[in-house]
Amino acid sequence: MTKSVLIARSAGFCFGVKRAIAIADETAGKGEAGGGKGAPIQSLGPIIHNPQAVERLQEKGVRVVETVDEISCGKVIIRSHGVTRSDRAALEGKGVMIVDATCPFVTKAQEHARTLSRDGYAVVVVGDPNHPEVKSIISYIEKGAPVFTSIAEVAAAKGVRKAGIVAQTTQSFDNLMAFVAAAMKRFPEVRVFNTICNATALRQQESTGLAGMADVMFVLGGYNSANTRRLAEICKAINPRTHHIETEGELTPSMVEGASVAGVTAGASTPQWIIDGFLEGLKELWKCDTIEVSFYR
Ligand code: F3S
Repeated sequence: MTKSVLIARSAGFCFGVKRAIAIADETAGKGEAGGGKGAPIQSLGPIIHNPQAVERLQEKGVRVVETVDEISCGKVIIRSHGVTRSDRAALEGKGVMIVDATCPFVTKAQEHARTLSRDGYAVVVVGDPNHPEVKSIISYIEKGAPVFTSIAEVAAAKGVRKAGIVAQTTQSFDNLMAFVAAAMKRFPEVRVFNTICNATALRQQESTGLAGMADVMFVLGGYNSANTRRLAEICKAINPRTHHIETEGELTPSMVEGASVAGVTAGASTPQWIIDGFLEGLKELWKCDTIEVSFYR
């Protein structure tokens, strides 16, 4: 009997993550050159939210540190979420070599936040205030400029005549529009920069379609990856036979029992080798003559 696997075309690394991993690989490849003999290579926080990819980088010599205080020499890679202005200044003060892998879309949001505040606008940042990316965007707002990160704060704002809006790159368009509506009610002048990156929306759209067609749906990626967990939630709402797994090692026969069509998607931080490994594992498990593998959309 023929089995088929449908893979979401956008499954896996987005542009910014691909770029960050390439930068980290290149930095690790150069080893000690430029950093002094024995100089460590560190990333400030895990480069991406994928434990297996981080482990591979660790094997190549890239050590994860959580705070600037832990860094005293060598090279430090700034991950795609970016870093706060104060952390960057602290790193510069230590004289370490900074390798910047901030996603250019995040840099754009930081620049808009800074320019708006310099031009006298209050800044509304749409996103999770505890997320490193949002912290980095907020850090670029000039001191003294009003900052709002919730609709309630916007609604309660006093004495503000003009406000500018930027969004965390992974926010939904609907949430951005809810903030725009609240700001329009409150401020006479509102400027909006749509800094949402469509990588997240694209993965979600494709996965939604795929989950509806598949007998069983697999979402691959780190349990610590918010965008992967969200993909799994979306798929599960459509197809209750949805499994979020990190690697093919978690595949069990009962997961695919009676299924002929498997849908596969993966978060923006899931490497291609994890997807390839999963397909091999699935072929092994199905033990059938033919498996058709095709891309969805
Ligand atoms: Fe950049 Fe968008 Fe990925 S902002 S890191 S390309 S999700």
